[in-house]
Amino acid sequence: MVAADQPDASRAGLAILRRGGNAVDAAVATSFALAVVRPESCGLGGGGFMVIHRPGADPVALDYREQAPAASSINLYRDENGEFVPERIRRGALAVGIPGTVRGLCYAHEKYGSGKLTLAEILEPARQLAANTTIPIDEHLRLALHGLYVDKPNGYEIPDAEQAFVREIGAYPHINQYYYRTTNLDRTLHAIAINAADGFYRGPIADDIVATLKQFGGVMTHTDLATYQVREFKPLQFDAFGYQCLTMPPPSSGGAVIGEAFNLLSALGVQPGQSIDEHLLAETLKAAFADRARFLGDRSPAVLHDVQRMLDVERTTEFAQRINRDRASTTSTWGNIAISDDGGTSHLSVIDRSGMAVACTESVNLEFGSRIRVADWGFVLNNTLDDFALDTTTPNAFGLRQSERNLLRPGARPLSSMSPLIVLKDGKVRLVAGASGGPRIISSTLQTALNVLVEGQSVSDAVAAPRIHHQWLPEKLYVQPFQDVELLNNLRRKGHTLQTRRDIGHVQAIERLPDGTLRAACDPLKGGRPAGD
Ligand code: DON
Repeated sequence: MVAADQPDASRAGLAILRRGGNAVDAAVATSFALAVVRPESCGLGGGGFMVIHRPGADPVALDYREQAPAASSINLYRDENGEFVPERIRRGALAVGIPGTVRGLCYAHEKYGSGKLTLAEILEPARQLAANTTIPIDEHLRLALHGLYVDKPNGYEIPDAEQAFVREIGAYPHINQYYYRTTNLDRTLHAIAINAADGFYRGPIADDIVATLKQFGGVMTHTDLATYQVREFKPLQFDAFGYQCLTMPPPSSGGAVIGEAFNLLSALGVQPGQSIDEHLLAETLKAAFADRARFLGDRSPAVLHDVQRMLDVERTTEFAQRINRDRASTTSTWGNIAISDDGGTSHLSVIDRSGMAVACTESVNLEFGSRIRVADWGFVLNNTLDDFALDTTTPNAFGLRQSERNLLRPGARPLSSMSPLIVLKDGKVRLVAGASGGPRIISSTLQTALNVLVEGQSVSDAVAAPRIHHQWLPEKLYVQPFQDVELLNNLRRKGHTLQTRRDIGHVQAIERLPDGTLRAACDPLKGGRPAGD
């Protein structure tokens, strides 16, 4: 069973499972297909994380997140008066991190694939999608294309790179509003099929990435690309509500925040079989996101130490005592930290016949990333460096603030909210989940897991249920418009400042029932559909 956020991509993965591939082979095929059909969300110019559960062997977490080029420096983002220009890290060439997806997928296939299928075979469904040269425009892609024209904050100066991008890809929906052109991507996939990751990180594609970025003022070099490596870790593991959770360690914040939230909810008395109180959930999110801001960044001894602190049960028990069951806390309850003051992603889940499971979240950061396209090869470069902080006072594109631990440094990878999650019961997979949606990834993955594991909902009800989101700062509780009115009034009475948001994450999840039945759900708001036998 494969659950991706676009139906053709789920089918690409299923085709590989049917040919005897394992869950990793299928995840790799699905991801390459997403690179074609979800250009706004992920793709060859982006990066991601993959958590793998292997029956009878140790689990694995792969980090193929984008990385700051060796020549990057905070000063590149200052104007002549020394003031930061946040737009420079948000769009255009200086927003682009070294892409990790291609190296990550090739590594996953080679090391954890079944060995029964070659990379060329795994890439074939994606190559066929790309060879069609046009893909249908669904609602999500339509809104993303629309965003190219209207998503301009007041006073936003459109960088040259973005103008070029809008001119180029913007031409197509005007000619034909139903199809998006994928020109040249099939040749890129072919180059990868022939030479694996070296086909992308060295040679003509690498030349064109470097040249395209240089044209718009970027600093990425051939060496940055050629030396980019996948990092492999043990997943961050913790127990919650009688289950064992496998999640992504730093540079993802998702695992640590979800683990802390599970512990805090337990300390507040939440037990399996109960329904979750949204007020307590909002307070939990505030507390855990404050820790995210204060403690997390790319891997360092200090960051890894503080991840353990976030998961410490005694500490969460003390936190639980600070939470008033009738009244919303202020943000300062959760600290005034040294940080002075503070969608383009796709998640896919796979479970194969043997019980092997993959949770994989990939991104170009904002929709269409930096909005720089390597035109001759048909892919968009990410703007993931915006997930770094330039200083501790300026919020990033998601309103997140962070400490000096997540300041941009050459060679570092920016802190992420991507939260691929695998939950086991007695060593066997029970749930695979994850989401897109910036910081809302964490809240939406958490709520889906709570709905299934604690409330006992089916995975489709769990994914479709309305969600809330709090990220500590700003002091706002985001709610979906289709929440129950009585519940919203109750939250207001307790002192929460509510703000409506249509989307709070887009979740793709698969659950495995005790009898082995698989059930999948793709978020109705992104239009994905699962595929399985
Ligand atoms: O890694 C992160 O936290 C962000 N780059 C994720 C961006 C995202 O989910 C955009 N939305 N759909």
